[in-house]
Amino acid sequence: MEVKRASVLGFCFGVRRAVEYAEKALEDYSGKKVYSLGPLIHNEIVLQNLKNKGLEILSEDELEKVEAKSVVIIRAHGVSPDVTKALEDKDCVIINATCPRVNANQITVQKASSKGKTIILTGDSNHGEVKGVAGYAQGKFILLENEADALSLPEDDGEAILLSQTTFSPVQFEKISQIVGQKYKNLKINNTICPATKERQDSLIDLCSRVDGVLVIGGKNSANTIRLFQTAQKNCPHAAHIQSAEEIPADFFAFERVGITAGASTPDVIIEQVEKALTK
Ligand code: F3S
Repeated sequence: MEVKRASVLGFCFGVRRAVEYAEKALEDYSGKKVYSLGPLIHNEIVLQNLKNKGLEILSEDELEKVEAKSVVIIRAHGVSPDVTKALEDKDCVIINATCPRVNANQITVQKASSKGKTIILTGDSNHGEVKGVAGYAQGKFILLENEADALSLPEDDGEAILLSQTTFSPVQFEKISQIVGQKYKNLKINNTICPATKERQDSLIDLCSRVDGVLVIGGKNSANTIRLFQTAQKNCPHAAHIQSAEEIPADFFAFERVGITAGASTPDVIIEQVEKALTK
C-alpha cells in the first residue's frame, strides 16, 4: 500500500507553540500549580499527556479556583483583558501563548475602539477567541454569527471596522462583508481569517483525487478536523475520521493508495502512528 500525506496537515503554528509553551512551563515550574484556562488544544491524547505531567485545566469561568502565585498558561485563543487583570491580581506567572494572529486582532480592536470606531466581529459567540477579542472593545461592539445577524443591522454613518474570528468560514465572511458594506458607509473590512484552515482544506482536495480513501486524523470535538472530514466525504469515495491508529477501519487496509490528513490540533506522533499502522 502507498500512503500519501496531504501537503499541509496537522498542528498549525499557534497550537504547536501553545503546546511547546505548556511543556516548557511544566518543566520550569515543576512542583508549582500549572493551569490552563480552557483546554489548550482540541485533542484528548495531547491533553491527557499534559495532564499526566501536572497540567490542571480550568474553564475561564473558574478563575476563582486559580491559586494565588500559581502559573497560568493562556491558550492560543487568548483571553480578555479582564481575565489577565484577575490573574495579575492573584500574582500569577502568566505564560501567554495567545496566537500572534489572535493577538493582532485584539490590538486592532483595542486601537480602533479607542478612536471611537464601531467594532464588528464575525464569529461564534461561544468561542473563547471571540470572548477574548470582544473584551478589548471599549465602545460599540457588534458580534455577527451569520448572515441573518448582518441583515438585521440598521444603517449607520459612523466609522466601523469589520474583522473575523481567525477560524471563521471564508465563504460566510465574504457574504457578511457584502451585507455590512451596504449598511455602513464608513466601513473598513479586515479579513482576519487564518490561512491555516484553507491551506489544509486545499491540500486535502488535491489529495482526494490521488487516493482510494482518506483518513482524517483528529479529535472528535475539533471543529477544523470535522470540516476536513466533511470535505473528504465530498471529494473521495471513502473517508473516515479517526482519533488514533487503533480506529483505522478494516477496509482501508485493502486499498492501494490511502491519503492522510490531520486537523490543526493533531500532534505529529499520532500522524506517524497511523502511517506506520497502514504500512506494517
Ligand atoms: Fe493561530 Fe491560525 Fe492556528 S490563528 S492558533 S495559526 S489556526
